[in-house]
Amino acid sequence: MLKVGVLVVFVFVVYWVDHNIDVVEGLGVNWGTMATHMLDPKIVVQMLKDNGIKKVKLFDADKSTMNALAGTDIEVMVAIPNDQLLAMTDYDRAKDWVRRNVTRYDFKNGVNIKYVAVGNEPFLITYNNSFVNLTFPALQNIQNALNEAGVGDSIKATVPLNADVYFSPESNPVPSAGRFRADIAELMTQIVQFMSKNQAPFTVNIYPFLSLYANEHFPIDFAFFDGTPNPVIDNGVEYTNVFDANFDTLHSALKAVGYGDLAILVGEVGWPTDGDKSANLNNAYRFYRGLFAKLASNKGTPLRPGYIEVYLFGLIDEDAKSIAPGNFERHWGIFRYDGQPKFPMDISGQGQDKHLIAAKNVQYLPKRWCMLNPKAKDLSKLAESIDYACTFSDCTALGYGSSCNNLDANGNASYAFNMYYQVQNQLDVSCDFQGLAMVTDKNLSQGTCNFIIQTGIYSFSHKVLPEIVVLLSGFTLILM
Ligand SMILES: *[C@@H]1O[C@H](CO)[C@@H](O)[C@H](O)[C@H]1NC(C)=O
Ligand SMILES: *[C@@H]1O[C@H](CO)[C@@H](O)[C@H](O)[C@H]1NC(C)=O
Ligand SMILES: *[C@@H]1O[C@H](CO)[C@@H](O)[C@H](O)[C@H]1NC(C)=O
Ligand SMILES: *[C@@H]1O[C@H](CO)[C@@H](O)[C@H](O)[C@H]1NC(C)=O
Ligand SMILES: *[C@@H]1O[C@H](CO)[C@@H](O)[C@H](O)[C@H]1NC(C)=O
Repeated sequence: MLKVGVLVVFVFVVYWVDHNIDVVEGLGVNWGTMATHMLDPKIVVQMLKDNGIKKVKLFDADKSTMNALAGTDIEVMVAIPNDQLLAMTDYDRAKDWVRRNVTRYDFKNGVNIKYVAVGNEPFLITYNNSFVNLTFPALQNIQNALNEAGVGDSIKATVPLNADVYFSPESNPVPSAGRFRADIAELMTQIVQFMSKNQAPFTVNIYPFLSLYANEHFPIDFAFFDGTPNPVIDNGVEYTNVFDANFDTLHSALKAVGYGDLAILVGEVGWPTDGDKSANLNNAYRFYRGLFAKLASNKGTPLRPGYIEVYLFGLIDEDAKSIAPGNFERHWGIFRYDGQPKFPMDISGQGQDKHLIAAKNVQYLPKRWCMLNPKAKDLSKLAESIDYACTFSDCTALGYGSSCNNLDANGNASYAFNMYYQVQNQLDVSCDFQGLAMVTDKNLSQGTCNFIIQTGIYSFSHKVLPEIVVLLSGFTLILM
């Protein structure tokens, strides 16, 4: 009998290793949807499953997304956007939100909700204190509503915060000197106390790319994980990367207010692949390779050794995101707009050069591009037309240091016209520009610059073009 038992255990172990080693423990992804052509949520969920990704963080609680996640065991963080925080300061509204967006999915084969994100980086300096008086009451109401609904033990409310809520003073810029920002120090202390009482985690977004982007003197090696000749030394502890230094600055800030043992999860971390001289495939590859090796080792940081729960930012490129922070904003995806992986990425942390599994069953529009008409004579309106095209589509790849920055003036114009034409689902009228533009079936891509074809009918959100979907169902009806 004993032998049989051992054999069973052995078979189990082999099975387990085979099926679970694929992804580093605790790895999640941020699934944002600010795109002109969203992939069907069902396609995205299948892609998550194909890649073994078991955690996802959302920026809302959109019904079609939630329905696609239902019946999977994927752990979900749903979110309340900043513009709903005011409403959530009313307890009845908070209870209603929880009922309609959390507990309604609490059934067999429902959605495995783990967290509710209350706001998104609400204390950013650029928000001018708009949310400082709303966030804590909203957080309390949501957690209390979860508790009252009887799900508070398994579902925790948290606030994803930017690392700008804490700092280490210029006089002593080391992680151990970390403190909360003076203007919100008292508020942060109350929030942390409340989270601790409810056993909710502190959620922080950490962006080594932005450290590099914001400061031209930032030592580039420090943004990555493969060592630096000039580590930061803090009480004899060596910091060789800004991720660890940042994380431990938060740990010290928490410790200074008496909550050094509060769980921390990293709500966003990642590297963009276009839209800036440091945003490219090589750097993203280097960053993620180091990050996954680090996570797989479960080494943690000097002040917090061990496992870290991390959500990558982001899953898929979002061509309609605001570019106020920079052109790179639309290029954070580990997948392109169409669910194709961008670069080799081994999320098991074993350092193998393999690609993620692409989205399946993605439909594309026909292979047609829009270009500058070489016969156009009157170019007086060209600049204006390019400007118009780029206002309503994504031309960020044309900028300095980006993938299409080496195009000539004609190439620039064609690129802009094509992006507009694709956003407009290749409507004929969208490739005219008073005779400046024409449709071509020749692929205009050159070098690193990809002239894309957008995804088509079945793979984008019905919200974008309801009339086409209706038209198509009418068409299908006739065919049948
Ligand atoms: C549920 O969430 C959605 C999406 O965030 C939001 O539009 C809706 O108002 C929420 N429901 C309630 C009752 O607040
Ligand atoms: C913040 O305040 C500044 C100065 O008063 C103003 O220019 C800016 O538009 C404000 N930003 C927001 C997001 O309210
Ligand atoms: C927040 O509330 C405090 C105390 O009531 C008040 O002094 C402050 O002006 C408020 N801040 C904002 C931005 O509304
Ligand atoms: C192409 O467009 C980009 C971005 O608008 C600009 O920086 C670049 O100078 C343009 N190139 C030419 C040759 O016009
Ligand atoms: C266009 O050409 C580029 C570069 O050769 C290629 O990567 C891309 O897949 C092509 N696009 C289409 C839609 O065939």
